[in-house]
Amino acid sequence: MSNETSIKRRTSKSFQKMKEAGEKITMLTAYDFATAKYVDEAGIDSILVGDSLGMTMLGYDDTVNVTMNDMLVFTSAVSRGVKRALLIADMPFLSFQISTEQTLMNAGKLIQAGANAVKIEGGSDFIISQIKALTQAGISVTGHLGFTPQYINTIGGYYVQGKSYENTIKMLEIAKKLEDAGVFAIVLEMVSEESAKYISENLTIPTIGIGAGRYCDGQVLVIDDVLGRFYGNTPKFSKQYVNIKEIIKNAISQYGNEVKNIIFPSEEHIFKLPKEEKEKLDNTLK
Ligand code: KIV
Repeated sequence: MSNETSIKRRTSKSFQKMKEAGEKITMLTAYDFATAKYVDEAGIDSILVGDSLGMTMLGYDDTVNVTMNDMLVFTSAVSRGVKRALLIADMPFLSFQISTEQTLMNAGKLIQAGANAVKIEGGSDFIISQIKALTQAGISVTGHLGFTPQYINTIGGYYVQGKSYENTIKMLEIAKKLEDAGVFAIVLEMVSEESAKYISENLTIPTIGIGAGRYCDGQVLVIDDVLGRFYGNTPKFSKQYVNIKEIIKNAISQYGNEVKNIIFPSEEHIFKLPKEEKEKLDNTLK
């Protein structure tokens, strides 16, 4: 069997099986074709085209400026690099808050751009009704509770959520409503470890934590934080595995120096005229 045919695509069902088997689910964000290929080939279970691309790719301060068009461009680029991972695309701010018709239309466009599922932040009654409409239309949905960056202007800052008994019980109640509405997984962002553990243990579907401690059913990080590529602040909950920014800057400054000092291009990078043609050129008076 060739490599191509032996690739088994991850699905929302695989997530459920992993939770039941106690196997942790791995997820990373990616926003472009090449990075999607690296993440996929490294065997990560799921790729999220997060609206964090507003900061990592577009240079905004937060995610609220990200549009459907932005999400479609990045989602289709990523989808061309993915063979194995489950591809989830974020529904950006205002793409699911206005009407069910718009929610269905926008989610449908992300699926047609190559996503296997969409992710929606929040758990208000309106959002739950949108999730029901999506799952009834055959669109797989991931929920997102805890710190929800699209609501930064109403939350008022980057605060850890679920810091009391009451908040934890409330968050579990909402998570159960999301589960009943048909989401196949829930991202828990910046939630105390104990609350995230309690919520994960009381749901049938898997939780994917980011800054939510060790007991979620899976973990997700922003690829730029993992690779040391991001220019802004790296959050406490993230882990940097390599300083790619320094590696890239060194390579670029080496290139600049070599051009200035006529070291690049060298013999192996150039194309030559055939000998006779060169002779004609040499014999032509300038
Ligand atoms: O946009 C994103 O990258 C996310 C993750 C932080 C979960 O939503």
